[in-house]
Amino acid sequence: MYIPEEKISEILNTSDIVDIISESVILKKSGRNFFGLCPFHSEKTPSFSVNASKQIFHCFGCSAGGNVLSFIMKYHGITFPEAAKMVARKYNITIETKEINPSKRRELHLKESLFRLNKTIMGVYFDGLKNLNKGEKAEKYLKQRGISEDTIEQFRLGFSIDNWDTIVKVLKEQKISKNIAVQCGLILERKQKNGYYDRFRNRIMFPIFDINMQVAGFGGRVMDDAMPKYMNSPETPVYNKSRILYGLHAAKQFCRQEGLVYIVEGYFDFLSLYQHGIKNTVASLGTALTPDHVRILKGYAAKMVLVFDSDAAGINAAKRSIKIFMKEGVDTRILVLPEGNDPDSYMVKHGPEAFNALASNAKTIMQFLLQVSIDSHGLSVEGRIRILDDMKQQLSLIQDSALRSLYIKELAENLNIDEKAVLEKVREQYLKHNTKKLSWIDEKKDEEKPESDRREEQMISMMLNCPEIIDEIKNSEVLEYFYSEKLKHIGKKIISVDPCKKAFITNVMARIANNEDQELIASYAMNSFFSEQDVHQTARSIINRIIRVRKRKENTLTSKIISAEKGCDSELMELLKQKQAEIQQLQNR
Ligand code: GTP
Ligand code: MN
Repeated sequence: MYIPEEKISEILNTSDIVDIISESVILKKSGRNFFGLCPFHSEKTPSFSVNASKQIFHCFGCSAGGNVLSFIMKYHGITFPEAAKMVARKYNITIETKEINPSKRRELHLKESLFRLNKTIMGVYFDGLKNLNKGEKAEKYLKQRGISEDTIEQFRLGFSIDNWDTIVKVLKEQKISKNIAVQCGLILERKQKNGYYDRFRNRIMFPIFDINMQVAGFGGRVMDDAMPKYMNSPETPVYNKSRILYGLHAAKQFCRQEGLVYIVEGYFDFLSLYQHGIKNTVASLGTALTPDHVRILKGYAAKMVLVFDSDAAGINAAKRSIKIFMKEGVDTRILVLPEGNDPDSYMVKHGPEAFNALASNAKTIMQFLLQVSIDSHGLSVEGRIRILDDMKQQLSLIQDSALRSLYIKELAENLNIDEKAVLEKVREQYLKHNTKKLSWIDEKKDEEKPESDRREEQMISMMLNCPEIIDEIKNSEVLEYFYSEKLKHIGKKIISVDPCKKAFITNVMARIANNEDQELIASYAMNSFFSEQDVHQTARSIINRIIRVRKRKENTLTSKIISAEKGCDSELMELLKQKQAEIQQLQNR
């Protein structure tokens, strides 16, 4: 990280979260907290709370939460250093750039140059479209595809004139380094190494903006049947294809408003939906969606609708993407358009009302997968067995136990197979790939988990709210007895911060890179899990309880192993022994 930790601390200690958030959210004081309408999900009654003494925010509705820097990042969709700089500027804190090491400085410099050149060239393409003679056919093409003047303006659509050296000339005139242009993928060196030529010729040009409205790259489409239909900039230090989504810079506020985002594949699909008023849309540009894409979108909307063509390619693309959405635990719907349509052609033909009507009937992931499977196997006895085989793999990926059992129930009903049999299949599948860990498969743990979790959460909440108990926590080594790896990790981070520090909680957050964990911390800090009377005594009793329960569990395990041995359940035995070894290791520390 190139902003030193002391600077971050200074920013956190000086800034006031109520001040900063008030600039974007109307806050009213109520009790110890301020409340307002959450900017991260749509709501009518305020559940977004800000606590001045703890310097954190937490939404009781969507569980967004964090410190002042996480708020700025999430709200403006910017990176951590950008957020730090923004807050620093407001409080006149200077961040010396001397601290950047030379390679980091070179990297930043290069990125700036790439962005600057892309922006210049975007202007050249934009002018190309307005070029009286040469741009005419491009203008006509866009018009014929139903793209309005406003859309062209807003998304800075352009045209690369049919020349080999339009860009090469611009570089010469403006004395811009060829090397940078080659890195941007705007020009290529001739085979004979005696000069350069433009990469994009005679194409409609789509600038691809990043979330901060900087031009990261371009896509270009031919206006006839020539191949390749689309050509894109290569990956560069400013164009990371696994993170950029076309249109997000414009769509983000609408995604937040609606709490939902439509994901389409193509440039025209995006533009068409946006222009017809469905502005909470982004395009994946034909590449496979990545976990990063999904995580980025999660910052803007809790619900996502994947919109696909009904052809085989569309169905396959949907199947490929689904796993990622399941793993990320996002409420995802699949909208398969009627045959022969893509989102653009559907919108042009039928308009936004018809699209909305379709969208409100979009299938859940399970309904979609089930339909695909039924379509290929049929509903005979053999067919249903095959379907179950297909589905067990998908089901075993779902982490959330409540959601998983809902799906299992749904599947059992649809196939007319006993729910227990489905559950058994899914377990088998899970064990095949997760022999190392006892997780939700371990029923005993399932029963016990909520209680142990609650104690551990209570402990974390206390550590955040009463840092004076932290020494005690350290000495007892109670964190080592935690069941929850996540909470253990958070606990260790808390211990690593000096409890006497001002703005203690926000300083803890500053050490946590993972947004989800930050949100957890905010919610534990906001929710009091305990009465504030004798904290030391309460702490001691929770510590003892956590340790005692964990030790008792080990004894229960031993007896389970013995009975498993009697019943010759070797798989279960193996798992139990592993668990026992883990616990013993713990106690030998
Ligand atoms: P139009 O025919 O202009 O409506 O495009 P489309 O978006 O309907 O095309 P298609 O469904 O074929 O492709 C979806 C997206 O995949 C496009 O918007 C592009 O981003 C990408 N894509 C399509 N064809 C190519 C190609 O030949 N090369 C590359 N790199 N990308 C392509
Ligand atoms: Mn299309």
